[in-house]
Amino acid sequence: MNDRFLRACRREPVDVTPVWFMRQAGRYMAEYRKLREKHTLLEICKQPELALEVTMQPLRLGVDAAILFADILLPLEPMGAPFEFAKGEGPVIHEPIAHVSQIDALRVVDPHEGLQYVLDSVTLIKRELTGKLPLIGFAGAPFTLASYLVEGGKSTHFVKTKRLMYGEPKAWHLLMEKLSETVRRYLRAQVEAGVDALQLFDSWVGHLTVADYRAFIKPHVSGILQDVMKTGVPVIHFGTGTSHLLADMREAGGHVIGIDTTTSLIDGWQRVGYDRAVQGNLDPTLLFAPAELACERAKLVLDAAAGRVGHIFNLGHGILPETPVENVQSVIDFVHAYKRNA
Ligand code: CP3
Repeated sequence: MNDRFLRACRREPVDVTPVWFMRQAGRYMAEYRKLREKHTLLEICKQPELALEVTMQPLRLGVDAAILFADILLPLEPMGAPFEFAKGEGPVIHEPIAHVSQIDALRVVDPHEGLQYVLDSVTLIKRELTGKLPLIGFAGAPFTLASYLVEGGKSTHFVKTKRLMYGEPKAWHLLMEKLSETVRRYLRAQVEAGVDALQLFDSWVGHLTVADYRAFIKPHVSGILQDVMKTGVPVIHFGTGTSHLLADMREAGGHVIGIDTTTSLIDGWQRVGYDRAVQGNLDPTLLFAPAELACERAKLVLDAAAGRVGHIFNLGHGILPETPVENVQSVIDFVHAYKRNA
């Protein structure tokens, strides 16, 4: 079993720095695009055989962990907020939340009812991977999920979300509670189904000030993380644009804290504290540079980690769709070949 990813999460010594990439399965790979000609994204997520196939696709590149193929938005449908992935536009929520009554109507999901297909995917994937590579399960964090529910899709300034958060705090906290309880149960069910680690994606949380994070988000995220950390599997807590939030994110929980590209790994790890592991943080757009430059920058990340226990190499955010596969391969090989001071 290649366990260097799990060892690094637990801050144990490793032979070389483990590496995987957020969104490592996706459109930058020809074999993914080929499958997408025949199936929609939701079909792939909902058919465990297809989810298995896509989860396995990037493993030929030599990454040190697999990530379950699914999407953070999947729990919204059984909660009562159906959506689709519109071509070229990203997610579209059919009836975005505009009234408090819609929050009252949202259901807390039993994952064995509403999301059993994801748990079935985990079972299938584990059958292939057990003894070889760890599998990461994941979910979206309540703020990031709420932003899609309220905005109806992607957003730049999160005005509708913040209007609800500031203006209707009681309704906001109810929304957070329903999302958090759904996510908590869903993550626990993934662990029961066999995932070896969890990542909580709070992708857009960096749009909040420290004060608002503490007042409106932190107690909810903390409730999820403190509970799922009890399962015994390593938990990664990730966000972007979070340089000002890292200390609070650490407090909220997670054995591993994600560092995005707005912070250098040196500063980020210092803010997080060396008693926690960190994951990051090559800029995803560097994979469009000549491989030599991408590797030079990867070296800066590795040098910043300075051989400390508890560094997982990753991007600061997900791989972008047009990324050249050869460059992904070059960076993975570089990280694995890297010997400090050699
Ligand atoms: O990382 C992986 O390889 C596992 C699969 C995975 C997907 N989405 C599949 C997917 C994971 C971990 C996610 C997480 C996710 N989904 C996040 C958090 C991570 C991040 O990037 O911040 C968010 C915000 C979403 C919501 C989402 N899903 C958006 C905004 C979009 C559209 C944007 C885009 O890239 O087109 C998706 C679609 C989506 N989810 C794709 C994939 C591979 C796009 C591919 C396609 O259309 O086939």
